[in-house]
Amino acid sequence: MANDKTILRALAGETLQTPPIWMMRQAGRYLPEYRATRAQAGDFLSLCYNSDLATEVTLQPIRRFGFDAAIMFADILLIPQALGADLWFVTGEGPRLSTIDSEADFARLADAADIHETLGPIYQTLRNLTGALPPETTLIGFAGAPWTVATYMVAGRGTPDQGPAHALKNTNPALFDALIDRLTKATIEYLSAQIEAGAEVVKLFDSWAGSLKGADFDRYAIAPTKEVITALKARHPDTPIIAFPREAGDKYIGFAKKTGADCVAIDNSVTADWVAENVQVDGCVQGNLASSHMVTGGDALVRETRQIVNALRGGPHIFNLGHGITPDANPDNVQLMIDTVRGG
Ligand code: CP3
Repeated sequence: MANDKTILRALAGETLQTPPIWMMRQAGRYLPEYRATRAQAGDFLSLCYNSDLATEVTLQPIRRFGFDAAIMFADILLIPQALGADLWFVTGEGPRLSTIDSEADFARLADAADIHETLGPIYQTLRNLTGALPPETTLIGFAGAPWTVATYMVAGRGTPDQGPAHALKNTNPALFDALIDRLTKATIEYLSAQIEAGAEVVKLFDSWAGSLKGADFDRYAIAPTKEVITALKARHPDTPIIAFPREAGDKYIGFAKKTGADCVAIDNSVTADWVAENVQVDGCVQGNLASSHMVTGGDALVRETRQIVNALRGGPHIFNLGHGITPDANPDNVQLMIDTVRGG
């Protein structure tokens, strides 16, 4: 039943006594059981496309910690791959993709409607999870927001300042806008299919929204997010949507109203008191403990966790980190965070 699921209750606007909790990158290299399954799969992408093993790693943090939500195991860069880009991961460095910097590169991309064959295993992972999760656990699907995915497609890799994407947007706006539009349409198709396969909530990761300033933020963070949300709400009006415009700063204010998101996820560059005053007034918020506490633990972790819970207890709140947990984190610190949120 939907009302047994605390994440869905918070997303519907309910203020709960204890905030529900899950954690970005909760299935990941800080867990020995993840590392074992990943070794079995061979490499990261083989793990994403192996529905049985992806189901297993999604369930690992649920078994170990009893989080209130499971996030399907996949990656935001599977969309470029489904559109025809080459994608591979270099161990210790991160993703590499074929680059988009000319009309000819763009012309080679597939139509948005043609992504489903590549992404079929992801939908199967969701169908598997629907039958495997405890009844109180909410299943979250996700995609990267168009701007963030475009930054990887233009550069062919992660970049500290998203320089190549900014350069293309400034020198060839027609090409850049066509890429954003293709990604927007593909993201709508992808998230719709995830919902049809069992995702109860979807989240849009705009990890590099913070590098968009002024009118660019409206054009490339707000507008594509709003287009995705509007289309999803037309097809699946009951599915809540979390938006994460990471490091948006002052631009977190009003983001839910401008885009139609049910919840705004917040990074840890702003304080929880500021979030309560400026963002939670419009509805549910998610966040925002610094992930470094999962490495360092101790009294500081407990103090900061309590501070966030207290600051946000006056409205709907889902407890989470401000960004993904890192591979050097200690699982004991994750347990300490959960115990602090649930037990005081
Ligand atoms: O949160 C979860 O547990 C669900 C799975 C998930 C992954 N990536 C698995 C992953 C999710 C939701 C993502 C999102 C993602 N992927 C983002 C947005 C969130 C953010 O962190 O800002 C981005 C930018 C990516 C792209 C990506 N994937 C990068 C840059 C890297 C390499 C850096 C790194 O951490 O190694 C990845 C790899 C990746 N995605 C791993 C995992 C568990 C590590 C891969 C491994 O096992 O070697």
